[in-house]
Amino acid sequence: MRLRSIELEMPDRNAAVRFLKETWGLLDAGSGNGASYLRGTEDIPYVVSVAEAGEPAVAAVTFSGSKPELERIRKRASAAGAPLGPVRDFDEPGGGSGYFLEGPEGHVFRFVTERKRVKKLRPDRDRPLQVTHVVLNARDREACTRFAVDVLGFRLSDRTGFMNFVRCDRVHHALAYAQSDNSLLNHIAFEMTDIDAVMRGIGTPEDWKWPPGRNDHWGISTRNSAAISQAERRFGFRPLVAA
Ligand SMILES: [Fe+2]
Repeated sequence: MRLRSIELEMPDRNAAVRFLKETWGLLDAGSGNGASYLRGTEDIPYVVSVAEAGEPAVAAVTFSGSKPELERIRKRASAAGAPLGPVRDFDEPGGGSGYFLEGPEGHVFRFVTERKRVKKLRPDRDRPLQVTHVVLNARDREACTRFAVDVLGFRLSDRTGFMNFVRCDRVHHALAYAQSDNSLLNHIAFEMTDIDAVMRGIGTPEDWKWPPGRNDHWGISTRNSAAISQAERRFGFRPLVAA
């Protein structure tokens, strides 16, 4: 199981895509069904998708795993009474099938078994390799962590005074819950080739202001990862409507 992608909705899809390409260095991975797909240099079909919508939202945080892994999670989610979408095919780069699942505070996750991988590209210090972790704000981070452990089958790696870090593979954390007064997106982090690549990004802070003229901010973090964060209230989760 690994963190694969995050699906965003933005009021100005084209501007968001431009920003992710020009400032972040993500690469075009095609478009379809009203969404633009962007990839890094790893063999993952895409790592961020952007669809147009009235309000900025996270449609899902997507993990890819094997069919048996997905079946086990689905079984536990069903037993726990978590809102669960039907198993369906996804028409997107990588294809595959899976389902949506909603956590205790409305965080929407998606689990996919991919059909196709893509060719790895040559690592480039100015381009992300892949998404490395997603941090979600939580009113009750302990309840969210219990969900991640008991239902998703993830493991608690670590905790600080305000954040719980959980993992689904060998990476220290794919997901973290930050104690907050809301349940919105805190940040998305990309893995970069090395610490120098991260520091180069920090060196151009003007590039991080987006969209122009707004008071939003984008940040960056260390440990070979660069993070996108925005004014918290702007990225809520679009609720899962279980069919
Ligand atoms: Fe982070």
